[in-house]
Amino acid sequence: MLDKRLLVCADLIRKGAKVCDVGTDHAYLPCHLILAHITEDVTAADVNPKPLESAKRTIAEAGLSGKIKTVLSDGLQKIDPDTQDIVIAGMGGELIAKILFSCLWCRDPQKRLILQPMTNIPYLRTALYREGFEILLERPVSERGHFYTVLLCRWRGEKKEVSRLFSLIGKIPECGTPEGEQHLWYQIGRLRKIAAGLKAAKDPEKRQEAEQIEALAQEIENKLKSRKTETGEKK
Ligand SMILES: C[S@@+](CC[C@H](N)C(=O)[O-])C[C@H]1O[C@@H](n2cnc3c(N)ncnc32)[C@H](O)[C@@H]1O
Repeated sequence: MLDKRLLVCADLIRKGAKVCDVGTDHAYLPCHLILAHITEDVTAADVNPKPLESAKRTIAEAGLSGKIKTVLSDGLQKIDPDTQDIVIAGMGGELIAKILFSCLWCRDPQKRLILQPMTNIPYLRTALYREGFEILLERPVSERGHFYTVLLCRWRGEKKEVSRLFSLIGKIPECGTPEGEQHLWYQIGRLRKIAAGLKAAKDPEKRQEAEQIEALAQEIENKLKSRKTETGEKK
């Protein structure tokens, strides 16, 4: 029932944890967590009544009524602060940041935050560190021609500025999977396209920006090549 994106989210949840899926919509993830025996304590939450109705239908159809709590909640406002693993998937990076940063009890290094942004990923990475969170790892996923990344995060308690390069690729170079490599090549291609567009501009500031973007693309390419050398593969 789950797509690859949500399967990766499920895989990052700790066995037996008290879980909340924020913005659950269809509640596929909570149903999977129970059916795959990952946890027995999961809440499916959504801010809108219609998706929550849809969640209740999926839960009933899966024979899991009474086993999954459903809560109408804006972000984490009505969620039990004892929740250990929080999933926020399928939303824009800015909304994910807003939901997370307005919850005080999430600022606990014991909690795990599993975040899957659809847009504004560089913004989310930067904002997480600025606010005092950290990314433990990232799992890139490609599905139906789209690239996604799932961020496993926790409260760090120390605010930090990240580099522009880190905001673009986060911890993807560390994941070492073929999907991670594809993701990075995709980023290189995207950056080079932007740089090519800016290079043609008359404005010297734009041409300077093109050089900076090209340098970022080159840095990512160098990272990829050095990783291959480390693992003994040919450049
Ligand atoms: C695109 S769906 C994602 C569903 C599922 N999490 C997934 O990744 O497939 C986004 C859901 O987030 C819900 N949502 C949007 N803002 C929210 C908020 N502030 N708090 C809780 N849920 C929210 C929407 O109602 C919608 O059901």
